[in-house]
Amino acid sequence: MTAVSDVSPEPIVYLNGELVPLSEARVPVLDRGFIFGDGIYEVAPLYAHAGGRSAFRLAQHLARLARSVGKIGIANPFDDAGWRDLIDRVVAANQTHGGLRADQDALAYIQVTRGVAKRGHAFPAGIQPTVFVMVTPLHLPDAAQGVHCVSAEDRRWLNCDIKSVSLLGNVLMAQYAAENDAFETIQFRDGVLTEGSSSNVWMVKGGVLYAPPRSHKILEGIRYGLIEELTAECGIRFEAREITEAELRAADEIIVSSATKEVLPVTRLDGQPVGAGKPGAVFAALYAAYQRAKAKQAQEAQTAQQAQQGVENESRERLTV
Ligand code: PDD
Repeated sequence: MTAVSDVSPEPIVYLNGELVPLSEARVPVLDRGFIFGDGIYEVAPLYAHAGGRSAFRLAQHLARLARSVGKIGIANPFDDAGWRDLIDRVVAANQTHGGLRADQDALAYIQVTRGVAKRGHAFPAGIQPTVFVMVTPLHLPDAAQGVHCVSAEDRRWLNCDIKSVSLLGNVLMAQYAAENDAFETIQFRDGVLTEGSSSNVWMVKGGVLYAPPRSHKILEGIRYGLIEELTAECGIRFEAREITEAELRAADEIIVSSATKEVLPVTRLDGQPVGAGKPGAVFAALYAAYQRAKAKQAQEAQTAQQAQQGVENESRERLTV
C-alpha cells in the first residue's frame, strides 16, 4: 500500500469525535463521500509565527464551508467557534504527538460528507454527517520562480462554486498538467477563462488586473477577495470580467492563486512565454502585499493571545488573593 503520509510521526486526525493516527482513521464503505462524492471540503493555511500559529482568513474559509454545506443540504456540524476549537485541538495534538513542529506553516483540511446510509441517490433521512479534520505541514512553492502551465477545455459540471469533494474533473486536469511537466492546467469554457484545476487565475494587461467574475463557473477562492483588497492597497486597478482565451494568451502577466500556492507567476503557457517570460511587476506588488497581510494577521493574533493571557493571569491572581 502507498504510504498515506510523508510526515513522521504520522498526523493525528479528527474523525467523528475522535483524535486518531491518520493510518487508523476509517470510514465505512457506504459513506456517501465514498459512494457518491457527496460531500464538501475546505483547505485553510495556518501560518507559524513568533509566539504561536494563526489561521489565515479562517473566518472567510468557515463562511465558505457554511455556504458549501448549505448548498448541498447538509446541516453545518459546527458553528465557527466549534470549527476553530476543533482545528486548535488537531493542531495541538499534532504538535504534541504528530510530526508538526511549532515553527512550521500548516494546512487545515476539513471534509464533511452527508454520512453513511444504504445506497440510494436521494438524501437519506436522519443520518449524521461524517466530519474529518487533518492538519499537515504546508510547503509553499518558490514564488520567485515562474511556473509553466498548460491549458484545456473546462469539462467540469456547472456548480464549481461548491467546494465539492466530487473532484474527478479537477483531478483529470491536474493529471494533464503533471503529464506535460506543467504546474497547473488553466481551463477555458467555450473560449472564456474559468480557473485552474485547483487555483484561481488572474490576468494582467496594461497594468490592470483582471479576473473572471464570481459565478457558478469558478470556485471563489478565499484569495479572490483578498487579492481584490490587496489591489486597492497597492493602487492597482482591478476589474472582474470575462477574459477570452485570445486575451489570456496576449497577457502581460498571468498569476495563479490558492491556499497552497498563495500567488504564483505563470511565465509560460502551453510552451509560449507569458509577456516578458518572467515574473512581472503586478505579481511582485501582490506577492509583497500578501506577505504584509500575513504579517498583519500574525501580529493581530499575537496581540489577541497576549490580551487573553493577561485576562487569565488577572483572574488567577484574583482567585489566589
Ligand atoms: N483548492 N479554484 C479551485 C478549483 C480550487 O480547488 C481552489 C483551491 C481555488 C482557490 O481557492 P482558495 O484561494 O480558497 O485556496 C480555486 C484547494 C487549495 C485544494 O483543493 O487543495
